[in-house]
Amino acid sequence: MIPKIELHLHLEGAAPPSFIRGMAKEKSVDLSRIFTKGGGYAYRDFNHFLSVYEAATSVLTSPEDYARLTTAVLEESAANGVVYTESFISPDFCGGGDLTAWREYLHAIQEAAERAEATHGITLRACITPIRHFGPERAKPIARCAAETVGEFVTGFGIGGDEMAGKPRDFLWSFDMAREAGLRLTAHAGEWGGAASVRDTIRDLDVERVGHGVQAIEDPELVDEIAEAGITLECCPGSNVFLGVFPTWASHPIEKLRERGVKVTVSTDDPPFFHTTMAREYEMLAETFDWDEAVFAEINQNALDAAFCDAATREKIAKRLEQAS
Ligand code: ADE
Ligand code: ZN
Repeated sequence: MIPKIELHLHLEGAAPPSFIRGMAKEKSVDLSRIFTKGGGYAYRDFNHFLSVYEAATSVLTSPEDYARLTTAVLEESAANGVVYTESFISPDFCGGGDLTAWREYLHAIQEAAERAEATHGITLRACITPIRHFGPERAKPIARCAAETVGEFVTGFGIGGDEMAGKPRDFLWSFDMAREAGLRLTAHAGEWGGAASVRDTIRDLDVERVGHGVQAIEDPELVDEIAEAGITLECCPGSNVFLGVFPTWASHPIEKLRERGVKVTVSTDDPPFFHTTMAREYEMLAETFDWDEAVFAEINQNALDAAFCDAATREKIAKRLEQAS
């Protein structure tokens, strides 16, 4: 199996539905409304997805729960050939932005990640995210949690949630705090918002990566600017197709962006919600765009170059890729 690097994975969004159902049962919480008869997650559209996501997350109430989640998620990623993954983790869901509580959650997550690395050879780094539709004031304590815990494990800061809520510059205070603490920056944009949303995000928040970013394709000048600036796009084609951002794999712009010189990468976003895995993303890209080993090697190199990790980790992952080639 080709070793894979994934830069865009939401930790709670990667929770297998059976894991969340089991947690709900243990805690006697009735979450039946968020599951289909077949046992998958049930939602109608993107905004409903966000609320089902938050309902699923509500049963994760302790550091131990997050340790178990991390173990389950990393086992699944490793089974798909992922050797390095960056996960969005939000102190909103891990202690509600309280720094003391956040440290406890983080400690549990990091310990689980270290165990997974020893057992399955997968490395995890954390990208801390406020939730955009929770608003800029709630983002501030999240940025403080991120800034206070920056280090080998907590390396990035981003923002997820409803892209149509507010403007990127509303979050400037939080992004400035994260940047000054030494965190590397990304932000979701150009998933639901158009090219202007990508442009505003890059200009106002000065991010080096963009989560999705694919709507940039609407604006050829912006595509050139992104390529020239070497900004990396965290593309999640299976997520986009499942949510109807693009109607088919063939109409997804990842290949056009790549041809135009943009550094694109491949991730799953929230794999069980979108019925995907990293192995499936690779299969679909090979089938749709004829991507071969050389293209996947280029994609993985893009991801490694843009990974929010220190030089020693980058070198270790580069060796894993080399060994497989
Ligand atoms: N949070 C989890 N998945 C997301 C997505 N695809 N877009 C924005 N926020 C998210
Ligand atoms: Zn995402």
